[in-house]
Order: sequence, then C-alpha cells, then structure tokens
Amino acid sequence: MNNFVFNTPTRVVFGRGVEKEVGGLVREYGGSRVLIHFGGGSAERSGLLGRIRDSLKEAGVSWVELGGVVPNPRLSKIHEGIALGRREGVDFILAVGGGSVIDSAKAIGYGLANEGEVWDFFDKKRKATACAPIGAVLTIAAAGSEMSSSCVVTREEGWIKRGYSSEYSRPRFAVMNPELTLTLSPWQTASGCVDILMHTMERYFHRSGGMEITDGIAEALLKTVMKNALILRDDPSNYDARAEVMWAGSLSHNGLTGCGTDGGDWASHKIEHEVSGLFDVSHGAGLAAVWGSWARYAYPADAARFARFAHKVMGVSGAGTHEEMAEKGIEAMENFFRAIHMPTSLSELGVHPTEEQIRDMAEKCYRGIGGPVGVIRPLDVDDLINIYHMAM
Ligand code: NZQ
Ligand code: ZN
Repeated sequence: MNNFVFNTPTRVVFGRGVEKEVGGLVREYGGSRVLIHFGGGSAERSGLLGRIRDSLKEAGVSWVELGGVVPNPRLSKIHEGIALGRREGVDFILAVGGGSVIDSAKAIGYGLANEGEVWDFFDKKRKATACAPIGAVLTIAAAGSEMSSSCVVTREEGWIKRGYSSEYSRPRFAVMNPELTLTLSPWQTASGCVDILMHTMERYFHRSGGMEITDGIAEALLKTVMKNALILRDDPSNYDARAEVMWAGSLSHNGLTGCGTDGGDWASHKIEHEVSGLFDVSHGAGLAAVWGSWARYAYPADAARFARFAHKVMGVSGAGTHEEMAEKGIEAMENFFRAIHMPTSLSELGVHPTEEQIRDMAEKCYRGIGGPVGVIRPLDVDDLINIYHMAM
C-alpha cells in the first residue's frame, strides 16, 4: 500500500432543484462579483441560466457573463475570460456546464490569480501559486472536473491539448441536479459514461501499492456505471439512473478510487487527448475507440490484474490462464461499449489519421509526459504508434 493524500474540499449539493441554492453558495464562499461561464447554448435553452441569474439576484450578487466554451475548450476563450475578469473585478467564477466549461473556468481562475501567460502552466514551464475560486453547476456526468484538481485545455496554435493539475483549482462547491442531464443526447450520455468508467479503470490498472477497499470501491463503481448506462440507453429519462451515473462521475475522479496506489496508468487518456486535440472528437467516445487497443498491447505486462478485472468487473467466469481471462475481459468491455453505441476503433469514431498525423500524435503524447507513457507497460513513441495503428 502506498502513502496517499485524499483531499476533497468541494462541497457537493446534490438532487432535484438544487441549482436554486447557487446564489447563497456563491455568497457563502465570498463571491460578490461573479463571472458566469457557460458553453454553446444548452444551459440557456433549458432555462438553467435563467434560474441561476434569479438565484444570484436574490442573493445580491452581481455578475458578468461569458459563454461560447466549446468541447475541448480553447485557450483563446480562456484569454478572453481572463481579460474580462480583470476588467470587471471578478472575484468568483461560476462554471455552468460540463468538463469543458469547468476546465475553462479553472484556467481563467489561474490566469486571474497569477501573472503572465496561463499556457505556461500547461506547458510545464512554471507552477501556479493560486487560482480564483470556482463553483460548478454540472450539466453532464462525464469528466469529473467538478471535484477534480485538473483541467485540460487545447491551444489552437499547433492543436495541442494539455492538462494541468493543482489543488488550488478544486471547485469550492459542485451543484449537481441529475435532472439537468435529461436534455443530453444519447451520444453525450454514453460518452460521459465511458469517461467515468475510464477514470476508475486508469487508476485500477496500476503497478504498485493498492488496497482491498480501493479495489472494492472501484469494482462496485464500474459495475454500477455499466448497469445504469444500459438503463439510460433504453430509458433516458430515468432519474435514479441519471443520479447514479452523476455521483459515480464525481467519485470516479476525485481521487477516491486511487487511494493507496501509484496513481494508475493513464496511457489511454494521454493517447486520447492527442486524438481529441487534433480531431475535436468527444473525449469519452475517443477513449472507447482506443482503450481496447491499449489494453491488448499492455496486458501481457500484468495479465493477472487484467484477469481480476475480467472476473470481478466484467463477470467473466470459467477457468483459463490469466492471459485468456484478460482477453475475455477486454472483449467484454468492448462489447459493452458497442451496446451503448460507442466506437471501439478510430474509424468507427470517424477519425482517419495519416501516417504523419499518427507520428505527430505519438511524439506530442511522449513529449507532453516528458518520457514513457503509462505504468502498466511504459510506452515509447514506437509503442504509441503501434497502438494508434491497432486502433485504426
Ligand atoms: O456547450 P453546450 O451547448 O452546453 O453543449 C455541451 C457540449 O456540446 C453538451 N451539453 C452539456 N450539458 C448538456 C449538454 N447538452 C444538452 N444538455 C445538457 N445538460 O455536451 C457537449 C459536451 O460538453 P463537455 O463539457 O465538453 O463534456 P465533458 O464533461 O465530457 O467534458 C469534456 C472535456 O473535459 C476534459 C476532456 O478532455 C474534454 O476536454 N476532461 C477533463 C478532466 C478534468 N478536468 O478533470 C478529466 C477528463 O479526463 C477529461 O480529460
Ligand atoms: Zn477523462
């Protein structure tokens, strides 16, 4: 078992109608001049933004607004937000949306609290010393950014997608009403479920330490998400299933499923971030498209762990070598992805990279880490190229 720090300072306010409490929460956390940050229009269309404005007004909090965050959020929008925040004397950022909006808010928060170019943090040139306070009103269960310490941003110049993590950016509160996710398309719902699964699976596949309780929590979480993803495929308006998935999304990425381990593998995420950075696809769907290829490439390095996954998570029964079990477990997970209409290859995702683009993604991925990618089977540039080829 490894030593660990488990820090989850985010207050979660969960359930029907809780977005009405947002004004009071902002006040309580010291906000008096708020930047409401949102995406491409779903929050306006659903009436959510209207309810949030009412709640802020009632709490006597003033605000400015910046919408237009796109999936795989862009650095240029973050620069716009930092300039607006400075001009308007913003002291709190309220992100209304999913991972892209929350991540954009976090990056603006870094920009407001630190001098200089914010991309430096993502480029690993220096570390942030603070972040303006963030609150989140979550509208999609997926990225887990509402409780996580990380944010992922795409710089348009060179289409480079990079993450940056620090404890400063964890949201002060997360307002989570599962009803808000009822307007999601089946594709976005399923893509979110894959991302949630992957945040636990990346941690589950580790190389050192580990705890029985962490494994147990992870396995229960994975099974719960798969079960409820299938319910939502057939019955998208099922509130309880929406709630199970939404809470799982936060628990999957707030550190709980990594306690006592080395932190996990994360190669699938790094491999995917290059794909969504270059081809602008949904992150969760991108993960579904590459995971099986990564797993088949990596499992011989720790077939016993993959066999446990097959048995405990995917319900694979019967005798067999660890290798045989591992293969069956990977196949079962891919079958689950297919069952919720997620792609299991890049071509099914609609992405057809050239050889030059594959090398570019592999090199950027390796450079972004500054060395081998992942821990189950540490991957160099040639390994990454092989996995992209397998995923075609
Ligand atoms: O922009 P709008 O109109 O709101 O539409 C969004 C967007 O098109 C739509 N949507 C969101 N809530 C909706 C809705 N449509 C209808 N009804 C609703 N209630 O969904 C689309 C996707 O939104 P996005 O925020 O991009 O989704 P997600 O939460 O999956 O976030 C993906 C981003 O998060 C990053 C990903 O790389 C990607 O950039 N990640 C962030 C992490 C973190 N900060 O900890 C970890 C993850 O591994 C991930 O990398
Ligand atoms: Zn993810």
